[in-house]
Amino acid sequence: MEKIAFNRGWDFVFECTDGFISGDPAECEKVDLPHTVKETPFSYFDESIYQTVCGYRKRFAVPDEWADKRVFLNIGAAGHACEVFVDGERVGAHLGGYTAFRVELTDALKPGTQATVALRVDTRESLDVPPFGYVVDYMTYGGLYREVSLEIAEKTYIEDLFVIPEIPDGEAILDGDESADEVAAVSFTGRVEAKLELSGEGAAQVRLAVTERGSDDVIAETTLPAGGELSIAIPGARLWDALSPKLYELEAALVADGKTLDVCRISFGFRRARFEAEGFYLNGRKYKLVGLDRHQSYPYVGYAMPASIQRLDADILRRELGCNIVRTSHYPQSRHFIDRCDELGLLVFTEIPGWQHIGGDEWQEIAVENVREMVTQYRNHPSIVLWGVRINESRDDDALYTRTNALAHELDSTRQTGGVRYLKKSSFLEDVYTYNDFVHSGENEGCMKKADVTPDTSRGYLVTEYCGHMFPTKTYDSEEHRLGHTLRHAKVLDAVAGEKDIAGCIGWCMFDYNTHKDFGSGDRICHHGVCDMFRNPKGAAALYAAQQDETPLLEITSSMDIGEHPASVRGPIWAITNADSVKMYKNGSFVREFTHADSPYKNMRRGPIAIDDFIGDLIENGEGYPHKQAELVKQILNYTAIHGYGKLPFGIKLKAARLILRYRMKPDQAYGLYGKYMGNWGSAVTEFRFDAVKDGKVQKSVTKTPMTSLSLDVRVDHTDLREGDTYDAAAIRIRAVDQNGNVLPYCMESVSLAAEGPIALIGPDRAQLRGGMGGAYVRTVGAGGKAALTLSLDGAESVRIEFDVTKEDR
Ligand code: GAL
Repeated sequence: MEKIAFNRGWDFVFECTDGFISGDPAECEKVDLPHTVKETPFSYFDESIYQTVCGYRKRFAVPDEWADKRVFLNIGAAGHACEVFVDGERVGAHLGGYTAFRVELTDALKPGTQATVALRVDTRESLDVPPFGYVVDYMTYGGLYREVSLEIAEKTYIEDLFVIPEIPDGEAILDGDESADEVAAVSFTGRVEAKLELSGEGAAQVRLAVTERGSDDVIAETTLPAGGELSIAIPGARLWDALSPKLYELEAALVADGKTLDVCRISFGFRRARFEAEGFYLNGRKYKLVGLDRHQSYPYVGYAMPASIQRLDADILRRELGCNIVRTSHYPQSRHFIDRCDELGLLVFTEIPGWQHIGGDEWQEIAVENVREMVTQYRNHPSIVLWGVRINESRDDDALYTRTNALAHELDSTRQTGGVRYLKKSSFLEDVYTYNDFVHSGENEGCMKKADVTPDTSRGYLVTEYCGHMFPTKTYDSEEHRLGHTLRHAKVLDAVAGEKDIAGCIGWCMFDYNTHKDFGSGDRICHHGVCDMFRNPKGAAALYAAQQDETPLLEITSSMDIGEHPASVRGPIWAITNADSVKMYKNGSFVREFTHADSPYKNMRRGPIAIDDFIGDLIENGEGYPHKQAELVKQILNYTAIHGYGKLPFGIKLKAARLILRYRMKPDQAYGLYGKYMGNWGSAVTEFRFDAVKDGKVQKSVTKTPMTSLSLDVRVDHTDLREGDTYDAAAIRIRAVDQNGNVLPYCMESVSLAAEGPIALIGPDRAQLRGGMGGAYVRTVGAGGKAALTLSLDGAESVRIEFDVTKEDR
């Protein structure tokens, strides 16, 4: 089947009329897909601004060769109801904004002429389709926000191809300790079953050919009669695993009388993924899941971002945040995102659209249809390990969920089902009990016991949300508050790590998102992310990032500015690192080495390490005190630095008494020592340096000194932009940093943005910094060449990013 990208040069009207649909001249905007019906402000806007019945229209030539072909329009998503017309004649419709659909145009086209395809897209939240009907905690931007293609098929063509990879029983089972290289070396004879759905008559044979993804060398090939069972053996096959996600491609070619009628290529991977009573197993080994929930929204353009930006989120989750699973809350997401999850070995839990509300019969029919679309459209992705077949956090509805669960199993016998609820011991129809555990509120336990939540402990159990609304946290909140956010995530991660029968936990959520009036902080934002809306990390992100080994990580939770804290009491400070230990130096003098053994978070991999000694041997050496006296002084000063003088516990008072009685120290002396070793007031500059040490080598250093100069730290995801099937975009993450590269959390200035050459800004020409961080996006505009973006901030040197835009010929 020939696929023609159909993304450029659509006519768009915000309010659709019958005349627009039937092709009357109209004043319209020229747009490319993915498209948002309304560019929004960053915050403080009402959801009504993107709700409309809008129109998209495109005129195209219908060549003579299409006379004996079938022609389809494939729409990646249309939020949230869509009717399709050709030259004014209605040819199809679709309800629901989160899945792809295909409309046949064949009978309405006249080969050798021009045709106009028009789409009426209803973006209103008053529609009777999931997720609508009650309130929803996320904005539901509408329009043609994914790509569209024209598909040209012979009369006989492949309607669908479901590839089922099989690993022989008892082979390629990992036992737990293998490294990525060892996993990559595991080899077996794999088998692939190809379930082909054909349309039309006359196909005689199917030729199957397998290649490694990215290579044209055929490693297995066979030709079989069409209509029979289709399978092929692959000797020397390798595993798709989180550590080594090997991908293959199966090409199925439909052949009749020596002529190839249709060809379909599908990526696949060999893996076993199973939730059991004791946890989750990937390729035989127990694998604790740690991840984040992801919405598909972005500042300004809602859902509408092209492939590279969708893929970037998977990279951020896997590579920057060290996650091994993502939940696509609360709907199926871009195929580009899922493709990248396949490539990175990032596991996925995907679910049908919806939020708490279950509608009437027609609404429920759409929910069931959503299961069909989700499973058939995504079941070839090895990264997907679980289907969510309930409306997120809805009440029990056995009639509906018996249907959704059965349908998912019927369409895909290889995967288990779940369904996210906030109900304990609710009706358990699926394979895995997936539960949003919001029990942790700061002081109490991190998670509930599996046995207290699920009605059947003999089946799998996964925590699918925690934190979130329990502690909204802005990048510009006080240090205390931001630390509280981090420690709450730590508490849950640690608690779940300690529960052997919980498969893992997926935190709420990856990044802040725009939301409806009923939620969020009044600014139409839920500040629930471990990243901000531009995917800049908040402190809590470091906990996830510390789990990966590729990039050295060291995060110190304090700026060391005591004036930030009530009564100038610095409070507890934590180091989060993926190194073995952290060495602290004050003004160049070694104070102490802290290791993971010092962490009270004993279960999780690399929990926060308390930095609770700011003195080390400095007093003993500097004041010439006997060891015991210096120790007592140190303990008292460290205690007061963290907790203040307010309420000294009995133990500390006793130590003070010993100093006075035994060593004849006067309170004045203690104040003096406090000023010298803790307060550091008036000293030239106090420098704290933290070195993260791994295998005896310093991997990363963080230095904290009072801010003296401001600069821009700008990160762009890619500078080689490609105008291919549609426009490309680059994500620019911006941070205001001090002379040591530390983010300045209260820098709220705005950065001006100036684009040159064949790119345009997405959103405003200023990037507002919030919490010292912000972002921008640029997109290509249909031409190739050199382009640049200059970022300027008062008081800092400007930064210029250069782009190369390549326009592909098509
Ligand atoms: C959950 C819900 C999420 C989000 C979260 C905030 O109840 O499933 O969509 O609203 O709360 O913590």
